[in-house]
Amino acid sequence: MGQQIDPLTSVESDIRAVLVDAPPLSVRDGGVIRSGYSAEIDELRQVAGSGKEWLTFIEQRERDRTGIRSLKVGFTRVFGYYIEVSRAQLDNVPADYIRKQTLANGERFITPELKKYEETIIGAEEKLKQLEYQAFVELRGRIVQVLTTLQKTAHQVAELDVWLSMAHIAVERGYVRPEVHEGTTLLIEGGRHPVVEASVGPGVFVPNDTRFDEKQSLLLITGPNMAGKSTYMRQVALIVLMAQIGSFVPANRAIIGLADRIFTRVGASDDLASGQSTFMVEMTEVAHILHHATERSLLILDEVGRGTSTYDGMAIAWSVAEAVHRMGARALFATHYHELVQLESTLERAACYNVAIRESDDTIVFLHQIRPGGVDKSYGIQVARLAGLPSSVIRRAHEILSTLEQGKKSTASTIGDAPSAEIALTEPVVSPMMLMESAVGGEVDQLALFYPNGEPVKKSGKTAVSERLVNQLTRLDINRMTPLEALTWIAKAQKKIKQGDGSWD
Ligand SMILES: Nc1ncnc2c1ncn2[C@@H]1O[C@H](COP(=O)(O)OP(=O)(O)OP(=O)(O)O)[C@@H](O)[C@H]1O
Ligand SMILES: [Mg+2]
Repeated sequence: MGQQIDPLTSVESDIRAVLVDAPPLSVRDGGVIRSGYSAEIDELRQVAGSGKEWLTFIEQRERDRTGIRSLKVGFTRVFGYYIEVSRAQLDNVPADYIRKQTLANGERFITPELKKYEETIIGAEEKLKQLEYQAFVELRGRIVQVLTTLQKTAHQVAELDVWLSMAHIAVERGYVRPEVHEGTTLLIEGGRHPVVEASVGPGVFVPNDTRFDEKQSLLLITGPNMAGKSTYMRQVALIVLMAQIGSFVPANRAIIGLADRIFTRVGASDDLASGQSTFMVEMTEVAHILHHATERSLLILDEVGRGTSTYDGMAIAWSVAEAVHRMGARALFATHYHELVQLESTLERAACYNVAIRESDDTIVFLHQIRPGGVDKSYGIQVARLAGLPSSVIRRAHEILSTLEQGKKSTASTIGDAPSAEIALTEPVVSPMMLMESAVGGEVDQLALFYPNGEPVKKSGKTAVSERLVNQLTRLDINRMTPLEALTWIAKAQKKIKQGDGSWD
């Protein structure tokens, strides 16, 4: 490449000869042309720049001539050059001084000599600017002659810069040369995230392996918050991208089956101005991916279905995972819906991985290690505590969580002293399997979240209300009810609940 580049040495020396080292922003106000380039410019600059010395000379001469020791020669933009004499000395002013301006404690005069000098100086300045600009325009004209070569050189230098930067980074950060091939197998050993690695410092980042082959195309990644799921998935995408643009990659070894495109669905964002809510943006992106990805694509799906209710979100995540699997694209799919782990047994090319942590006492240690298998815990509350949520909030969250988890086992249960009659579930209490069963006539395992008078139900007395209600509800044959009958039943149920009536039937 270096041999092909035309370094345009004549242009370089032309520029060096004509322009000063650090030219001003404006090319019309002078100070652009290097001295020694044009005799005319140098001469004018001499004249234009000699003002100060000349003023001192005239000032001294006039003081001597008039005997006025406080006499001053100065310049203003408006009046030009002047001689200033204080009020006390006005009697000594010679006849050839012409009065120009009266001040509070003196007068300003001009002389024909000053006037003439002024014209020379100002003329010289104007002429100088003109000549400098002209020299600049001529230089520009000469460069334009070789424009095509210049642009080609610029392009080549830019390209060289890219390769050089990649090579530099590769050596400095221990990257390897990827083996790129036409198949779809994707194998990364000891892969690292180039940016996170650089920011956590050398030796701190935990490398991880990745495998996509004919046996596994959909990797379901579970693991606690902060474990490193997003980092891992993005590192795979980045390694593929780097390999395909011709860079070495942050790994010990990488075999990269070419991807036609890399699609990502990551993070929460919205576009309120153009009428898109957070969830709408998420779904629009997922839709785009499902419509455009091919079996050669690489998909990064980070927690699809997060921004809506638990069941809706999980159902969408589940169904998207199935669609991606049908498509056959290589996909990394991170999720906190642990139920999705079941997909490993139903989808042929789905495989579960999780990010390891170590639990010690009440804290967790993030190991950032990817290993086979799924997990069923998020440690969200622990991470929330690490993030600084008030301890009262954390304590309460633990309470609610344990009640909810009990609820998974017993059909009807109540929540401690819940202040409100409703709790938004952050964790799913039914699995999609159950949801699907319910869709075809099975029963849904549901928590009872009803309280008489908005008060918690006491274990002894009124627990019966919610239990019976649930029993009743489960036994209702909705298919044989009219909407009116259903409505009437709901109204009745509501009334009973409000009254805290234990005699439910
Ligand atoms: N392999 C790694 N080695 C060292 N540090 C890592 C590694 N992976 C992730 N981290 C650190 O852990 C932080 C959290 O990682 P990441 O955002 O990937 O977690 P996550 O599992 O996606 O969490 P969440 O479920 O909350 O989205 C990162 O900002 C990074 O600093
Ligand atoms: Mg994440």
